[in-house]
Amino acid sequence: MNSDKMLKILILVFLFFFPFCSSTETLTQNQSIKDGQTLISKEKNFSIGFFSPANSSYRYLGIWFAKVTELTVVWVANRNDPFNDSSGVLSIMQDGNLVLHDGFNRSLWSTNVSVQGQASTAAQLLDSGNLVLVQENNKTVLWQSFDYPTDTWLPNMSIGLNWRTGLDRFLTSWKSRDDPGTGDCIFKLNLNETPQFFFYKGSIPYYRTGPWPWRSSAIKSNCKTTFINNGDEIAYQYFFDDPTFITRVVVDNSGLLQHLVWNDGEHRWKEFWSAPTYRCDKYGQCGAYSVCNPGDVDFECSCLPGYEPKSPRQWYLREGSEGCVRKKSGLSMCGNGEGFVKVERVKAPFSSVAGQMYLSIMSYEGCEQACLRNCSCTAFTSLNDGNETNCLQWYGELMDILVHDVEGYQSLNVRVDAADLAKNTRKSGGFLGNKGRLALVVTSIAVPLLPVILLAHIWLRKKKRKKTRGFRTAKRKLHNQSVNFTDTKGSLEGNELEDSNTNFDLPIFDLSCLVAATDNFSPANKLGQGGFGPVFKGQLRNGQHIAVKRLSKSSGQGIEELKNEVQLIGKLQHRNLVKMLGCCIQGEEKMLIYEYMSNKSLNFFIFDPTRCSTLNWSKRFEIIIGIARGILYLHHDSRLRIIHRDLKTSNILLDDEMNPKISDFGVARILNGDQIQDRTNRVVGTYGYMSPEYAVFGKFSAKSDVFSFGVILLEIVSGKKNNGSYMEHPSLTLIGHVWELWREDRALDIVDSSINESYVPHEALRSIQIGLLCVQEDVRDRPDMLEVLLMLGTDAITLPSPKQPAFIFRTASDDLKSVSKGSCSVNEVTLTEAEGR
Ligand SMILES: *[C@@H]1O[C@H](CO)[C@@H](O)[C@H](O)[C@H]1NC(C)=O
Ligand SMILES: *[C@@H]1O[C@H](CO)[C@@H](O)[C@H](O)[C@H]1NC(C)=O
Ligand SMILES: *[C@@H]1O[C@H](CO)[C@@H](O)[C@H](O)[C@H]1NC(C)=O
Ligand SMILES: *[C@@H]1O[C@H](CO)[C@@H](O)[C@H](O)[C@H]1NC(C)=O
Ligand SMILES: *[C@@H]1O[C@H](CO)[C@@H](O)[C@H](O)[C@H]1NC(C)=O
Ligand SMILES: *[C@@H]1O[C@H](CO)[C@@H](O)[C@H](O)[C@H]1NC(C)=O
Ligand SMILES: *[C@@H]1O[C@H](CO)[C@@H](O)[C@H](O)[C@H]1NC(C)=O
Ligand SMILES: *[C@@H]1O[C@H](CO)[C@@H](O)[C@H](O)[C@H]1NC(C)=O
Ligand SMILES: *[C@@H]1O[C@H](CO)[C@@H](O)[C@H](O)[C@H]1NC(C)=O
Ligand SMILES: *[C@@H]1O[C@H](CO)[C@@H](O)[C@H](O)[C@H]1NC(C)=O
Repeated sequence: MNSDKMLKILILVFLFFFPFCSSTETLTQNQSIKDGQTLISKEKNFSIGFFSPANSSYRYLGIWFAKVTELTVVWVANRNDPFNDSSGVLSIMQDGNLVLHDGFNRSLWSTNVSVQGQASTAAQLLDSGNLVLVQENNKTVLWQSFDYPTDTWLPNMSIGLNWRTGLDRFLTSWKSRDDPGTGDCIFKLNLNETPQFFFYKGSIPYYRTGPWPWRSSAIKSNCKTTFINNGDEIAYQYFFDDPTFITRVVVDNSGLLQHLVWNDGEHRWKEFWSAPTYRCDKYGQCGAYSVCNPGDVDFECSCLPGYEPKSPRQWYLREGSEGCVRKKSGLSMCGNGEGFVKVERVKAPFSSVAGQMYLSIMSYEGCEQACLRNCSCTAFTSLNDGNETNCLQWYGELMDILVHDVEGYQSLNVRVDAADLAKNTRKSGGFLGNKGRLALVVTSIAVPLLPVILLAHIWLRKKKRKKTRGFRTAKRKLHNQSVNFTDTKGSLEGNELEDSNTNFDLPIFDLSCLVAATDNFSPANKLGQGGFGPVFKGQLRNGQHIAVKRLSKSSGQGIEELKNEVQLIGKLQHRNLVKMLGCCIQGEEKMLIYEYMSNKSLNFFIFDPTRCSTLNWSKRFEIIIGIARGILYLHHDSRLRIIHRDLKTSNILLDDEMNPKISDFGVARILNGDQIQDRTNRVVGTYGYMSPEYAVFGKFSAKSDVFSFGVILLEIVSGKKNNGSYMEHPSLTLIGHVWELWREDRALDIVDSSINESYVPHEALRSIQIGLLCVQEDVRDRPDMLEVLLMLGTDAITLPSPKQPAFIFRTASDDLKSVSKGSCSVNEVTLTEAEGR
């Protein structure tokens, strides 16, 4: 009885460990593996046998890690056809094929190879985890499990296309953790463009790795990827420098691609790497022609240089998937001074249309030239894989660009028009590119002001600190000194500006000294009547001439506008902006002190039948450029983004040398940060210079100033007021009149007859065209001030054709006037009309 039992156990043990005992990792023709038996690889790295996943009673034939204590299956033979009992057997059939059958000799799975000459075959489990079927006489591999991956990628396993066999090897997730059946997620090498992996959920791209060798070798990792591209196959493999690492890459049905490493100490798998991790990893998160920046907490999407959101509304709602389109106002990018702007550290874009990406071996310069030559080339990049320089060029949509927050990734060169080129080279500072001419124009515009402002600021602060303690004495000193610095907060105590939390560093003038300077505001010294009060000329004791704007006591709006103007202009410095010297607030009196402009304002000259002849064409052209520079400074270059809102010829003052200076910042607004547009219920400005979207909806932006600039430009060229009327077409405004002439190809007819002698036809024509571009009805069609300056500065750029301007007909604009917001707005519309100072 005892020996009988012993024998039984021995037989059982023998049966169970038979493959062990034979010490072979090989299954030959006369052997089989039954459920409960396993075959182990030589170094005992992997086992093959039957298993049931967690929470499942079905049986599957699979390969798993032998040294890992947690059952981790890397390959399944019958993933969609499980056994419902333990009757499964794996054996080699007479014809040499591996077959998996049940107790009724029904085949559930088999290899399908034809064995030449009926030679005997054997199946062998290798230590890499590969099950191979070989021809015994010459060891030819007839079939291998690595060619039919399930959800796991092991080191030494190729994922990609085998040209010889036509097998496309890719990973497919399990249905769930307890069902190895074919799931929805696929990780596959996509060969439509540069070879790169795509992770699909169903048939929808979900994540993309980007092409190799996009990530430079600067990024050190002990995990290496090898790209195999030879006559046999185009595929990837990966391996660790240290082969003792137990590792796998697995596709999860929840949509996660994980690279895991077994941690022996903790007895668990640890994540080495996974994707997608960020929202930006998701394919097309920001649509086409955009960049996704995971570091941007607000909204991760932004458009590539030269592009704007396709649907601004969706974009505003933080939904970026519709992506971006070329800027409507963009200039032509075909032989028109265009170039490239570098976008750093990105994942290479993807061309969703096959055949729109080219890979060639070319130097960086060659690559750039090749892309520049073909107008449909949207971007290029130059990659060095160690031996040769590859040139990647895209000829269509650019999809799925992600900015990495670490160094070591390639950059992308995006094709932009001349204006964006200038903008971006300016931003990046110094890089002039090969557009010498444009760069020259640009550098002459871009006066490096920031350091000056900073220095001034530091100096003023120091000065202020010193003075704060001796505030009383400082104030007393003011009587003797015309200008001094003091703590503004202190001096404003007890008056209307008390609540203002701004700490502006502007000189405070003493009322008595202003009274003396203007001869007690004598009518003889009155320069004109501004929107909020009269303007007086004055002379300080040191001989300096000043203009004093005395805000009328009755004007309720005065304080608001004064605060605004003091805050704003105090921080601005540009030779085309009128300089504020200080302010004076004492009791009822509120005054602003400016530098004195001897030549009054622009309207004083251009609309006057005699004085207009003092401004010849070249002077007028200089004035136009000067005004544009001043506005550009307000819009782009100052640290604030300022919208003037009331640009008109009477607010353009002229100094001794007839240099234009923009004045009157009473209604200017600061847009903060990235804000492009704002809205107001109080439409203030001047009829004739207001853009339609501002006049009607109260929406103002840099582009509404551009509109006003366009009107000013046309007025300077024509010497006519936009709200004057025309004999030929009494219903037309100046803009409408210019537009009519433009369409009839007679635009030069509008040029002021007093400069007939001096004007340069092509310059004048160009100016008119630019003026018309600025007054286009659609905000998006209007250029921005940088583009305006570029267009004024060079003939090298072909200008777009202007579309119909806004406010063509007088009646239309009269209607607009009556619908503008609020009861006081109509008054304010013309309130700020001032006749120079
Ligand atoms: C397999 O078994 C057959 C008879 O059952 C025998 O002729 C053959 O030699 C065996 N082959 C091997 C490799 O053992
Ligand atoms: C198995 O089922 C139990 C109970 O339904 C569940 O808690 C557990 O998570 C399941 N395990 C797996 C691996 O699905
Ligand atoms: C198991 O599967 C066999 C066919 O493969 C079928 O005939 C049998 O009814 C199944 N048994 C159960 C319990 O599902
Ligand atoms: C099982 O089926 C194969 C053909 O599919 C046949 O050659 C073999 O003899 C069968 N074996 C048994 C035990 O019925
Ligand atoms: C087996 O391969 C042959 C040709 O190689 C093919 O015609 C046949 O459909 C395959 N059978 C299966 C079940 O895959
Ligand atoms: C291996 O042997 C088979 C048949 O004996 C033959 O058809 C095949 O070409 C051989 N392969 C190699 C690589 O020699
Ligand atoms: C892995 O691949 C290399 C080269 O392809 C080969 O030399 C090595 O034997 C392979 N290792 C295994 C375990 O198959
Ligand atoms: C098998 O595993 C050991 C240690 O885990 C490792 O050193 C060896 O390289 C592995 N063999 C293969 C062929 O991967
Ligand atoms: C520019 O590229 C497109 C797309 O590859 C091509 O069809 C076209 O012929 C190219 N044009 C020139 C002038 O090379
Ligand atoms: C560079 O060339 C050498 C020799 O031709 C080759 O061994 C090496 O693999 C190449 N390196 C790359 C990154 O292609």
